[in-house]
Order: sequence, then structure tokens, then C-alpha cells
Amino acid sequence: METAIRRDMILDVEVVDLLNHQITMEQQASSKYLAMASWCDQRELRNSASYFYKQAEEEREHMMKIFKFVNDNGGSAMSPVATEVAHEFESLRAIFEASLDAEIEVTKSIHHVFKTARKVGDFTSEIFLQWFVTEQAEEEEKVRDILDLIGLMEDMPLKMIDERIPTE
Ligand SMILES: [Fe+2]
Ligand SMILES: [Fe+2]
Repeated sequence: METAIRRDMILDVEVVDLLNHQITMEQQASSKYLAMASWCDQRELRNSASYFYKQAEEEREHMMKIFKFVNDNGGSAMSPVATEVAHEFESLRAIFEASLDAEIEVTKSIHHVFKTARKVGDFTSEIFLQWFVTEQAEEEEKVRDILDLIGLMEDMPLKMIDERIPTE
């Protein structure tokens, strides 16, 4: 694109492709969390539902953060299309396990973009991505804590477990 309003791109092309892939991943994560929120909401697991609604919002914020970063630095952010997500889950524990798996995938992907940015000398992206590296470590830690908690309360009624789930 060679319009006058277009700024010179200071980001690396390969990194921009990976960032666009990341945009799709964050959108997909948001959709997954919304489906999880729905499952919990339908069973009146209020805290868990709040937790997943909040996660769905946060993932959308992550998506927008990357989206704006790409456009603000002269790249072309691509509007993401989320594909089909699971709506059926075996249990509350299964949902949090699926959530941990998804977070681990996102962490791997963030690390990959980070490494690429460093390798090609795209310092703007590298610095931008530092926030995401920290965020992913915190996200994983949070889900692991919840899974520990669920493990300890395994024999308790679901509603009582739900009461101890943090709402965000
Ligand atoms: Fe995220
Ligand atoms: Fe996340």
C-alpha cells in the first residue's frame, strides 16, 4: 500500500505475520472462554462463570492491543476470524484443564514471536511483547492454582467448589 497516510513500517515483515497469527489466537481464546462461561452460567456456577466472562474480555483486550500495535507501527492488522469452539465439557475440572492447555499454547506462541523479534532485531516488537511474556506466566499460574484448589476439594459439591473460584 503506498498511500500518503501510510507510515513507514518499522516492524519486521516476518514478525508482523506472527503478530497477525497471535491476533487470531487471542480472538480464538476469547471465544473459547465465552463458551466456557456459558457452560458455567447455565449450571449456575456463578463465580466460575464470572471468571470466564472476565477472561473472554481480557483475551479480546489482548487481541486489540496487538491489533493497534501493528497498525500504529505501519503494519496491516488483519481482522481475526474465530473458528468453531467446544461448548460441551465433562466437568468444571475439565474446563479449567482445557483452559490451562489453551494458555500453554498461547505462551508457546508468544515466546515464538518474541524469539523471532529478537533474532531479526525488531526491538520495537520485542519490547512490546515483554508485557505478554509476563502476562502469560501470570495467567498460567492462576489456572494452575485453581486446578490445585479443585484437586483439594474433589469430593465436595460443585456449588461449594464454585464458591471458592476467584471471579477474575
Ligand atoms: Fe491472551
Ligand atoms: Fe490468557
